[in-house]
Amino acid sequence: PVVHKLVVPKRDVEAEVDDGMKKVAILYGSQTGTAEGFAKAFAEEAKVRYEKASFKVTDLEDYAADNDEYEEKLKKESLAFFFLATYGDGEPTDSSARFYSCFTDQGDEKGKWLKKLQYGVFGLGNRQYEHFNKIANVVNDKLAENGAKCLVPVGLGDDDQCTEDDYTAWKELVWAELDQLLRDEDDTSVATPYTAAVLEYRVVCHDKPDLSVEDQTHTNGHVDDHDAQHPCRSNVAFKKELHTPQSDRSCTHLEFDISNTGLTYESGDHVGVYCENLSEVVDEAVRLVGLSPDLYFSIHVDKEDGTPLEGSSLPPPFPPSTLRNALARYADVLSSPKKVALIALAAHASDPSEADRLKFLASPAGKDEYAQWIVASQRSLLEVMQSFPSAKPPLGVFFAAVAPRLQPRFYSISSSPKMSPDRIHVSCALVHDKTPAGRIHKGLCSTWMKNATPLTESQDCSWAPIFVRTSNFRLPVDPKVPVIMIGPGTGLAPFRGFLQERLALKEAGSELGPSIFFFGCRNRKVDFIYEDELNNFVKSGVLSELIVAFSREGPVKEYVQHKMNQKASDIWSLLSEGAYLYVCGDAKGMARDVHKTLHTIVQEQGSLDSSKAELYVKNLQMSGRYLRDVW
Ligand code: 2AM
Repeated sequence: PVVHKLVVPKRDVEAEVDDGMKKVAILYGSQTGTAEGFAKAFAEEAKVRYEKASFKVTDLEDYAADNDEYEEKLKKESLAFFFLATYGDGEPTDSSARFYSCFTDQGDEKGKWLKKLQYGVFGLGNRQYEHFNKIANVVNDKLAENGAKCLVPVGLGDDDQCTEDDYTAWKELVWAELDQLLRDEDDTSVATPYTAAVLEYRVVCHDKPDLSVEDQTHTNGHVDDHDAQHPCRSNVAFKKELHTPQSDRSCTHLEFDISNTGLTYESGDHVGVYCENLSEVVDEAVRLVGLSPDLYFSIHVDKEDGTPLEGSSLPPPFPPSTLRNALARYADVLSSPKKVALIALAAHASDPSEADRLKFLASPAGKDEYAQWIVASQRSLLEVMQSFPSAKPPLGVFFAAVAPRLQPRFYSISSSPKMSPDRIHVSCALVHDKTPAGRIHKGLCSTWMKNATPLTESQDCSWAPIFVRTSNFRLPVDPKVPVIMIGPGTGLAPFRGFLQERLALKEAGSELGPSIFFFGCRNRKVDFIYEDELNNFVKSGVLSELIVAFSREGPVKEYVQHKMNQKASDIWSLLSEGAYLYVCGDAKGMARDVHKTLHTIVQEQGSLDSSKAELYVKNLQMSGRYLRDVW
């Protein structure tokens, strides 16, 4: 077998937990592994710089079992760094939710309980969103309010530009502080220069595919508790186009079969879907990697003798696979490459001028060019590799440092388990855009769904590894409580689930409170998705009122928020009766505009001044009566 070795700075791991070392906690809340990667890279570099300190990286999920333990442990820390992603509607990651509530749910009575702690926070977010880096900001402020000493201004990573640059700037401020704290006064030596090792899996190439082990993570039935690490293979049972043939866009209704899988869900939950790269994308990736698509190999994060590779912050290996399958299922080759990927490509470019250019793009001097040529042009990893044909990294480097792991895509489930216990329904708009560099970008999962072969067409149907992510987007427990739903386009999805749920409740004899749904689409004849079903919900009394805004029918655009304005007094009286208000759909435009409209309605209808109206809306949010599922 061909074996590649990982090169990392040598450290004595045992000694680090020992006496005489100042302990530094590095805690992260990561959803897709980015925050985790930065936390681990930070620890690696810090270890090299500060020999008299020990750095322990911990997932906040594993740090403590409950609020009391979080408090107990944090009280004991004297130095800690937090890497916190903000995602969804300004929410913490699943793994940092408990830690976050430990700060946000507490009263003021505890006083300055964190006096011993000095800390720094680096956030991961995207400026395009309303709640840019909310979690990092809140935690940063709360730590200080509780008596901890903030060492450096909170770092605000912006994925819309370049999180790596923001991290580099933040980290330099941290080193300046740590030089004071973690080095002896008489130590005048300059910190050891640190160059991040290009990470690498150990690769073993096998002669013959052992098909019994291929894709074992995706088989049914063995695991009851499916999650992102243990998805469940699920067949596409049914599919249909939701737009009429006149449409120049497309929206797919797709049903995953979850019978006999152990998967369960509630309406309002999300389904995570891992899908494959298109075969044209895989073909090009195979060509650029320059190896046979049939090459059968496995990747490892341990040495040949089974001991773990030191310093490795790599995600767990995927199952043994052919190169073609690995590129199809595990490699994100359509996102723009990170700077670490450029450095790894440079290290394996046989043409020195290509290597120099790649290194320049990843360097501080090449910052603007990277921002322009890669980020703003939305240049994919494949396009970049096409421009540097001599860069041929070995497989262990390619899967560790060049192509990030393909992440699942999340969809709001558009069915209710009360109506479809064996199926998860998804309503997915096709993503099909032209990038500034002229490439047609076909959305990975939406294109896959549009092209999927359902069981109704072939026994050899399409399938995907899927899992359910629980959400707090739920109908009120008491079905008599009024509900107001706002969801244009595919923002309709969870409300279809809610309405199915209400229908099932009604059929079982429950009394239902009033409900109104504001839906928006371009044109009744083109993209009024699920029109018949919605009308039937009205007929059966499950939906009291359906209000539709058509944005491209009349001479002026009508959006859901315009319809809300027209119904301002109804909305206000329902809210006064204790209604729950739900918004689902686009975060950047729609949800923000709807939020402003809600504020205005509350202010005018309630005769409140602007700050009282804000407080009213905030209280709705805090009491869980204003819920948003936005992307
Ligand atoms: P448009 O495409 O005509 O601009 C579902 O996508 C519907 O939401 C469409 O009718 C779309 O209109 C509309 N939409 C676009 N931006 C919106 C916004 N900021 N607020 C509310 N609806 C919006």
